[in-house]
Amino acid sequence: MAGYDRNFTDELRTRLSIVDVVGRRVPLVKKGQNYWGCCPFHNEKTPSFCVNEEKGFYHCFGCGEHGDIISFTMKSNNMDFVEAIKELANQAGIKMPEYKPKSAEQVKREETYFQIVEAAAKIYQEKLFEAEGQEALKYIRGRGFSDEMIKKYRLGYAPKNNLIANKFVNVRQDKLMATGLCRRGEYGMYDFFRDKLMFPIFNANGQVVAFSGRSMDGSEPKYINTSDTELFHKRKTIFGLNFARDAIHRANRSIIVEGQIDAIQMQSNGFPETVAPLGTALTEDHIAILCKSNRNIVFCFDGDGAGQKAAGRACDIVMPFLRDNSDVRFAFVTGGKDPDEILKKSGSDAMRKIINDSISLVDFLWDLTNKSFLVSTPGGRVQAEKFLKQKTDKITDTSLRAEYEKEFNSRKYNSWHKWKKSEQKNINIKLPEIDTITQKTLVFITDRFPEIAERYAEFLASLNINLDADVVEMNIDEKAAEKYIISLKLQKYLEKLHIEKKELTAKLLSGENVQEQISANEQEINRAKEKLETLISM
Ligand code: UTP
Ligand code: MN
Repeated sequence: MAGYDRNFTDELRTRLSIVDVVGRRVPLVKKGQNYWGCCPFHNEKTPSFCVNEEKGFYHCFGCGEHGDIISFTMKSNNMDFVEAIKELANQAGIKMPEYKPKSAEQVKREETYFQIVEAAAKIYQEKLFEAEGQEALKYIRGRGFSDEMIKKYRLGYAPKNNLIANKFVNVRQDKLMATGLCRRGEYGMYDFFRDKLMFPIFNANGQVVAFSGRSMDGSEPKYINTSDTELFHKRKTIFGLNFARDAIHRANRSIIVEGQIDAIQMQSNGFPETVAPLGTALTEDHIAILCKSNRNIVFCFDGDGAGQKAAGRACDIVMPFLRDNSDVRFAFVTGGKDPDEILKKSGSDAMRKIINDSISLVDFLWDLTNKSFLVSTPGGRVQAEKFLKQKTDKITDTSLRAEYEKEFNSRKYNSWHKWKKSEQKNINIKLPEIDTITQKTLVFITDRFPEIAERYAEFLASLNINLDADVVEMNIDEKAAEKYIISLKLQKYLEKLHIEKKELTAKLLSGENVQEQISANEQEINRAKEKLETLISM
């Protein structure tokens, strides 16, 4: 397997869940932390074939077969490596790159980069505790970092001079530049990070691949990160994940915060399942990586307008990853600027309350819609409806999408249209009372089939009955429900026509010339009757 582009196979392992890949061929049942099924590689009646979602491995306790998505696809389809990769790329919906074996040089080059970056991390760590790093150390301690935390997260200090460039004078310049640590200027090599508090960025194996440096003199930007290198792809790297992975599994959720200091403080104060994107941009890749562990995510945003905006973007990104077992929630920090400040000012319990008070994705979307559009006007409602549709269309799981649509239809009916009841005070002709059975039927229908209620909202509102009453179970399916409402509407229309007829007859008796209106009324009565009859006989 070695020799092939590891980035691409990693990408496949990231995008595809082994449970999905194996589950296409072997029925799996979840027991404890693993999934179990009958081994496809030997004959058996009781399951001894075990799949671990988090680690991406399967193992058969019967015959000893084990491997990952690639070996599974090769063995179970009798494919060679490249064929299996193609099949998996197809399942993941991603394009196959041209296959170029990873050369021995490339492997060696990467090893050199790892060594340089690791050495730099060590040097930065030492500097933090030397005279030059004094200010930075004071600063980070002031932000509540214990020495234990400083050690665990390997915080460091990059001094003002060109420490790394000088230290590695004997390393070829292109290699040094390829790590992102140094750049070439008019006067030779210089360090990218100068006078910065350094946060190493680790890959999944816990190796340092890049750094994020916080400015110490108040200069902007506040944070600079290593640019993308062969070892580091910002869009695919999640800060703190190497420390949080096990906790994400145990807690069966991940918490995403905006900043790396927030992530460290959260991890150190009772929320070890917390991570942060690098920079403020959350990407699809970040979510895909987290979803490999589980699909339960609490997004934690600042309580300000920027936080709301970021939440909207996060919502767009997460929608395609939703499954029926996802629990995606949004928490907004109030009473402080960010999780770090909450933890410092009010402690873990206050933070726990914020997390516990998080709102579900459905509620978040609904609130966002109502806040963004003038839903008290027909035009605003059309815009809001388009907005909601555009969001729900992003859900790839079709049955889940249908459920979301139903949910929003029901909400639209209940809060955008029900109010019409009270507004419609002066209906031209007073409708006769609705009997209790009819009312109960309508309560059941509006509760069970909100789309129908939505469609006939105006009519239902004109009936002036309480649709919030307790629901009594009835044996009516969707088709029958719609038929019931249409026929009720026709009956009500007929009643109205009959009242009109009486009035016209009275006018005729008192000598008014209403002959034409009377025959029009009669015709209309006959038409309505016919419609009603056809409907009932259907
Ligand atoms: P914030 O600007 O919200 O962090 O950036 P903050 O809470 O004020 O920062 P501290 O706590 O004082 O250190 C949140 C995150 O956005 C990224 C960083 O990853 C940061 O942790 N960021 C921010 C940048 O990448 N560049 C910047 O210039 C600013
Ligand atoms: Mn902060």
